[in-house]
Amino acid sequence: MERTLSIVKPDGVARGLIGEVVKRLEANDLKIIAMKMIQMTKAQAEGFYAVHRERPFFGSLTDFMTSGPAVVMVLEGDNAIARYRDLMGATNYKEAAEGTIRRDLATDIEKNVVHGSDAPETAAFEIGYFFNAFEINPR
Ligand code: PPS
Repeated sequence: MERTLSIVKPDGVARGLIGEVVKRLEANDLKIIAMKMIQMTKAQAEGFYAVHRERPFFGSLTDFMTSGPAVVMVLEGDNAIARYRDLMGATNYKEAAEGTIRRDLATDIEKNVVHGSDAPETAAFEIGYFFNAFEINPR
């Protein structure tokens, strides 16, 4: 069993795509064991994306992530990190495989609907960034 952090980004929430993302997660046996809607502050977004602080898009990405509410979830399942990343598709929706969330729903390299942790250490950091132990409910 593995856990990963999923975010429905502000573009996904604004466009009414929470249900569509959740439907795909549940259909693919990624169990939602924690879930909440948050409004990130600029400082929170900068902390979350700190590994990208030298990238040219850091300011724009952290502005975007604070532009409206987002839904954060903890997913659990066998090989959950890789399976959820497969479901999301490539960062750039134009390069994402057919049938992936980003290929089907994203409109822009930045407004790409969802986030997913990329490795076990990142998942542990990201889950702890938004959730405490009492908010996580494995079934
Ligand atoms: S990864 O996983 O680090 O290889 O992903 P990467 O492609 O490097 O992207 C890291 C996050 O930055 C976002 N991103 C961008 N935002 C705005 N503009 C541009 N050009 C851009 N390129 C990448 C990308 O969506 C990733 O966000 P998250 O939330 O991690 O998916």
